[in-house]
Amino acid sequence: MFKVAVLISGGGTNLQSVIDKVQSGYLNCKIEIVISDSEKAYGIERARQNKIDALAFSKKQYGDKLSDEILKIVEARDVDLIVTAGFLSILKGDLLKKYKNRIINIHPSLIPAFCGKGMYGLNVHRAAIEYGVKVSGCTVHFVDEGTDTGPIIIQKAVQVFSTDVAEELQKRVLEQEHVALPEAIKLISEGKIIVDLRRVIVKN
Ligand code: GAR
Repeated sequence: MFKVAVLISGGGTNLQSVIDKVQSGYLNCKIEIVISDSEKAYGIERARQNKIDALAFSKKQYGDKLSDEILKIVEARDVDLIVTAGFLSILKGDLLKKYKNRIINIHPSLIPAFCGKGMYGLNVHRAAIEYGVKVSGCTVHFVDEGTDTGPIIIQKAVQVFSTDVAEELQKRVLEQEHVALPEAIKLISEGKIIVDLRRVIVKN
């Protein structure tokens, strides 16, 4: 079966959306392991409640070696796809080379807007509101050496209202994230994705 590793740092609502879609049969995949860079992440608890193996690394202990450590684990478990879902550490080195086009990330804006260094969580939604955009959304993309620069797989848009505060926009975008992320995993696990330089083509 197609094996997925989910990397998290926080609450893990995106992880939950993947768990739910595996349990409903929408995804014909196994969540092989959940890896967190924070021992306090509630997502760890979600994994354990669903009998999924979970590991938490302390950033202090592993520092720059975190990606190498993750590579050892995913290779040992024959993981097909790595999903970063609210994972705040930057992946680097051999992991990116060996898992080229097999690592995806969910970002809470319509890339290339409001992405890159420092753009995570509520910061993204604050920036979108301050800029005055009328539409925002989420993006699922492949992970490459840059921050939020890899080829785009799926984007979903939501309206931004003049009365919105960041938390309201975040909630509206998260609903779409929970649709987009499982959709991207499904397409990849079914072999329906071709990457042509920057363009991602979905086969029928
Ligand atoms: C999600 O909104 C995700 O898109 C975002 O963090 C949140 C994690 O929520 N990721 C980033 O901002 C990465 N740049 P979750 O832990 O409930 O899935």
